[in-house]
Amino acid sequence: MSKYTEVKRVTTHVMKAMKQDGEKISMLTAYDYSMAKIVDDAGIDIILVGDSASNVMAGHETTLPITLDQMIYHASSVVRAVKRAFVVVDLPFGSYQGDPKAALRAAIRIMKESGAHGVKLEGGEEISDSVKRILSAGIPVMGHLGLTPQSIYKFGTYVVRAKEEEEAKQLIKDAALLEKLGCFGVVLEKIPAKLATEVASNVSIPIIGIGAGGGVDGQVLVVHDLLGITKEFQPRFLRRYLDLYEDMKGAFQNYIKDVKSKDFPNEKEQY
Ligand code: KIV
Repeated sequence: MSKYTEVKRVTTHVMKAMKQDGEKISMLTAYDYSMAKIVDDAGIDIILVGDSASNVMAGHETTLPITLDQMIYHASSVVRAVKRAFVVVDLPFGSYQGDPKAALRAAIRIMKESGAHGVKLEGGEEISDSVKRILSAGIPVMGHLGLTPQSIYKFGTYVVRAKEEEEAKQLIKDAALLEKLGCFGVVLEKIPAKLATEVASNVSIPIIGIGAGGGVDGQVLVVHDLLGITKEFQPRFLRRYLDLYEDMKGAFQNYIKDVKSKDFPNEKEQY
């Protein structure tokens, strides 16, 4: 058993030590109290209240529509459940790309109103003023490079990013910049494994990958994908641990059958 299992509270310092010790960091999304409680109890290191809530919770096609108020609602539900994990929350699209002061106000609202431990922003050099401003208030910041879903209309598709040399070089530069600014970690999404490994070895902060191979410091998945609830989403990088869509559907069908046949409730299930 790893010494990190004993850690009562995962902090940015713990994560840095994990990287130094070669202990892989586990990260999953959660958006509500009940799911966060199970994920935390299982011993996850970081819970991400991702703006993927826009897709998996609200049914939007992209992450763009989710609002700051909605992110705070999800984050505060998660924080109420969590005892050990570090809780990081996505700043939603439009809340940090313009004015750094507005970015700071959004980050402060998340920290104050949800009780989360840090925020995550998508982008590198282009959002560095916002990152600096938020960090200056003592708020831990996580970066997110590679495929950044808030820019989906710029990319046009969800294909692997940074395959070309120029984009790969920019990504390496951005990761180094985020480290220099003081970010506690960076998520790398859907980039070649070789490039991700290079980034992870270039910086001292933890690099958490999703579709970025095994050479990084940790892994993150969307919890609904891991559980097999989002049945249609089947990227190569995803490992499903359950087929909950079918299991849940089966349970609902059994319930419907029992209600219709008057089998439920029985004698013991009433007062
Ligand atoms: O919003 C999210 O779930 C994310 C992960 C895919 C890293 O940003």
